[in-house]
Order: sequence, then structure tokens, then C-alpha cells
Amino acid sequence: MKKLIFFLFLALSIWACSSTTEKGSTHSSTSSSAKPISGSRIYTQLCTQCHGAKGDLELNGATNFKKSELSLEERIDVITNGRKTMLPYKGQLNAAKIKAVAKYTMELKK
Ligand code: HEC
Repeated sequence: MKKLIFFLFLALSIWACSSTTEKGSTHSSTSSSAKPISGSRIYTQLCTQCHGAKGDLELNGATNFKKSELSLEERIDVITNGRKTMLPYKGQLNAAKIKAVAKYTMELKK
């Protein structure tokens, strides 16, 4: 019986710990959404899987941003409406976020 109580206590404390960290992370994500839009953060979350962290991964035929000659407007158009294997992001990102991440893809050229 003592063992069982000990186990319950252990389980409870693990549960308590994990729920606090969960609360902590929700909190930080709510506060981070209030921060100014970061193109690099959006890029890391959504774009690296095909374009790579430096923009030159070229996975699934993704454009190499080190070679891309597109203007900011053209990039915004591709990100908003998609092109071939690249899906449109207009449902997922608002115009300001699309612009921020488009700008970031231009910085990758350097
Ligand atoms: C599923 C893989 C995939 C993901 C994820 C992806 N892309 Fe692409 N992207 C592509 C492909 C493939 C192309 C080339 C399309 C073509 O050949 O017409 C492309 C092309 C582009 C272009 C056009 C560049 C040029 O010079 O033609 C831009 C800009 C771009 N992507 C930005 C982004 C951004 C920003 C994100 C994240 C929000 C993103 N992509 C996420 C696959 C992806």
C-alpha cells in the first residue's frame, strides 16, 4: 500500500511538473505573438523543410534563395498563392507575415 501511495505521489508530481511547463509554454507563445513579426521565425517554422536554413537546400525542387532573382513583390505573390509543389500560404499567414518572410528570403542571398 505504501508503495502505491508513493507511486501515486510520484505520478502526481510528474503530472504537476509537466502541466506547469505546458502552462509556461502557452504563456510564452501568447506573449511572443505580441512581439513584432519576425520573418526569420516564420521561415524557420514553415520554410526550412524545403528551402533549408540557409535557403539553398532545394528539397522537392524548392528554389535556391541564394540564386533567386525575384523581386519582393514576386516573392510575396509566390508565397501568397503558391507555385507548383509549393503550397499557398494565404490561409495560414496574413499579408504582414508574408511580407516579413518574403523579405527574409531576400536576406538569405547575402
Ligand atoms: C513543400 C516544400 C516547400 C515549402 C514548405 C516552401 N516552399 Fe517555397 N518553393 C518550393 C518550390 C518547389 C518552389 C519552386 C516552385 C516552382 O518551381 O515554380 C518554391 C519557390 C519559392 C519562391 C520563389 C522563388 C523564385 O526565385 O522563384 C519563394 C519566394 C518561396 N518559395 C518562398 C517560400 C517561403 C517564404 C516559404 C515558407 C513560408 C516556403 N517557400 C515554403 C517549395 C516549398
